[in-house]
Amino acid sequence: MQTARTKSQSRSAVKSWKQAGESVAFVPTMGNLHEGHLELVDVARQHADRVVVSIFVNPTQFGEGEDIDNYPRTLDDDSTKLAEKGVDLLFAPGVSEIYPGDSSQATRVEVPKLTGILCGEFRPTHFIGVTTIVAKLFNIVQPDIAVFGEKDFQQLFLIRKMVQDLDFPVKVIGASTIRETDGLAMSSRNGCLKDVERKTASHLYKTLSEMAFILKKGDNDFRSLEENASKILENAGFTVDYVSIRRVRDLQTATSNDTVLVILAAARLGETRLIDNITVDI
Ligand code: PAF
Repeated sequence: MQTARTKSQSRSAVKSWKQAGESVAFVPTMGNLHEGHLELVDVARQHADRVVVSIFVNPTQFGEGEDIDNYPRTLDDDSTKLAEKGVDLLFAPGVSEIYPGDSSQATRVEVPKLTGILCGEFRPTHFIGVTTIVAKLFNIVQPDIAVFGEKDFQQLFLIRKMVQDLDFPVKVIGASTIRETDGLAMSSRNGCLKDVERKTASHLYKTLSEMAFILKKGDNDFRSLEENASKILENAGFTVDYVSIRRVRDLQTATSNDTVLVILAAARLGETRLIDNITVDI
């Protein structure tokens, strides 16, 4: 596996593959890799000749009071895992390589409106940071395919929209959420949970699964279902940001005429914010 620290090193590796007629799949990450990330790498491998993974803890997607300094950085371990997976290139730039000037003055990419709903209501600058860094990484790596986890449903939705609106020649693929045995979606944040919180955390997926079951049985009083689920989670010990039943096609609030749905939730246990979702066709 090659490791590139600079944009030009990454570009020249990818250029040589493209010149040889090889296709390139890309998995952007912030490191601290777990099984969920490695699954994204497997999906990438199935779709292209070469696989590039980036590790970059992107400062612009952390809001005020969100502790970027304590975000786990495990580059050596991550690098070993990626090499074992047969990844062709690890792109691991430093902050000054990606944001050489004052990032608050730099051009941003924003998907209007959708950036401010659901998680965006609680993290108002987060998705602007995400779409901006993903656009930059697409321009640096120039992949044919990019793979993102469906666990971050709103992020995936926004990236697909950005790709469509800005005509990036990149095919975006969503990969299924990988779960622990008790259902908890794998996430770098799970490692921040205290033992007792880790036990409680599985209630998030359980609650969403129960909602999906009730929806499938024909209950379409979506607002009551959301309220009940929030109460259940609060009683279990969560502080709930939202539980929301939305339309898959545009992420707008679902009404009783809608049938292709996604239930999304964000809830905090102590300092740790967890998100999850389930899609349901009724
Ligand atoms: O999902 C993530 O890990 C990040 O939001 C991403 C897509 C790598 C952008 O920094």
